[in-house]
Amino acid sequence: MSKLLLIDDETDVQYSFQRIFDSPEIELTTASSGEEGLKLIPKVKPDLVLMDIRMGGISGMETLRRIRQIDSKLLVILMTAYGTTQTAIEAMKLGAYDYLLKPFDVVKLKDIVNNALKAAHDMRQVVSYQPLLESEDYESGIVGRSEAMQQVFKMIGQVAGTDATALITGESGTGKELVARAIYHHSHRSNQPFLAVNCAAIPEQLLESELFGHERGAFTGATLQRVGKFEQCNGGTLFLDEIGDMTPATQTKILRVLQSGTFERVGGNTPLKVDVRIIAATNKPLEEAVAAREFREDLFYRLNVVRIHIPPLRERREDVRLLVNYFLKKFARDQESEPKSISTGVVKTLEAYHWPGNVRELENVVRRALVVAKGDAILLSDLPGEIAGQSGSNTSAPTSNAPVAAGDAGATDVVSLTRKLFQWARKDPKLKLIPAVERELVLQALKETAGNQVQAAKLLGITRATLRKRIEKFGIQRELNLK
Ligand SMILES: Nc1ncnc2c1ncn2[C@@H]1O[C@H](COP(=O)(O)OP(=O)(O)OP(=O)(O)O)[C@@H](O)[C@H]1O
Ligand SMILES: [Mg+2]
Repeated sequence: MSKLLLIDDETDVQYSFQRIFDSPEIELTTASSGEEGLKLIPKVKPDLVLMDIRMGGISGMETLRRIRQIDSKLLVILMTAYGTTQTAIEAMKLGAYDYLLKPFDVVKLKDIVNNALKAAHDMRQVVSYQPLLESEDYESGIVGRSEAMQQVFKMIGQVAGTDATALITGESGTGKELVARAIYHHSHRSNQPFLAVNCAAIPEQLLESELFGHERGAFTGATLQRVGKFEQCNGGTLFLDEIGDMTPATQTKILRVLQSGTFERVGGNTPLKVDVRIIAATNKPLEEAVAAREFREDLFYRLNVVRIHIPPLRERREDVRLLVNYFLKKFARDQESEPKSISTGVVKTLEAYHWPGNVRELENVVRRALVVAKGDAILLSDLPGEIAGQSGSNTSAPTSNAPVAAGDAGATDVVSLTRKLFQWARKDPKLKLIPAVERELVLQALKETAGNQVQAAKLLGITRATLRKRIEKFGIQRELNLK
């Protein structure tokens, strides 16, 4: 639910707001003066303030100035019936999120409010991340005892105290974002915002406006002015994920912010100054993009001041065991249950796997195994077939008729067979596994026994009558006659 605070001395406006924002998702509080509004802010803790500029008592501008002192991050939208560019500029300079002219169009008003609430939400997410980091578990938040991870930890410690730009590289799922957040957490900016932008997930045309914001009318569809991530993040840390996926124009703008701390909103020409620390990440070789002239070389050097490379999990297999234990504990705590145990055999299988999806994949496998596991231990049969069925390149691969689960009590040939069947079923969501398997068993038994129903029934361990029913049910007679 979002909280709106309306500060306006006109009762008409208060009534119409109550009508417009009568929704279970919004809690609207009203104040009739700047003084009353200022008193309400610490109590209500609004996500967004909408305020008239001309009111009896202290003016909207003055109230805005004081709001800024109480809470520099609270978003404020100013409204007035007497719009002059001067007040608009003044309002924006004082850090208003937006500026609205009365009388307002309801649709537009709702749009602006939703837009602002989204921005407020983004900023709040940042704040709410901190308690999690400060919890006792933070120390173990990044798990790894391998030499490679020790190196990563040292680098985090070294860069955290500086404002240097850091470039984090590594395959997908290796923990790049986790490392970025750790740098932030240990930096002197840890009480300022941390925002993440995934450059690959945002369409090219929108990325620039996401980062730098845009002015009203900057392009078709830009009906509202928008504050970009750089502005929202002033004083804080901006995590640019998948940095390789930026257009040359955006690259140029980023370079400029890095060099001079200034930029303009899209469609605007007032240079804005920000103080933002950038941490970038990529899972693609940026050097190659530079060589292919897809990525600006000067920007690359600017970002690459400190390079932290996180090696893939298969190159630090000794971390697998630790990670598994960590995830088991973490999920148990989330579920408020006792952690399940895991046999050495299963851990060995996990260590041998090549983990193309790295730690994220391991985390998902553990999560899934916990769902599938029946008892209080995770068995080989609780792992996906592609992991349980192969033991990596450095161990001898099991033959199909030997038990796969060497060292794992209880696992038999049937288990590995079942796993193969599950693999089959997973590939075909429409498949009904049991009837499909049953049909195949009946069919093959009849083929093996050259259509001798007595022998086939014996082979299958069912009565001849049951066999006949199955033959009928699955339409097998026809199939055998055809062949
Ligand atoms: N060393 C680690 N210790 C504990 N958890 C980890 C570790 N590395 C990664 N994880 C977990 O694995 C998941 C993936 O990590 P993260 O999102 O940081 O990876 P990424 O490198 O940014 O991946 P992508 O390139 O796909 O965006 C997260 O849930 C993260 O908490
Ligand atoms: Mg990531």
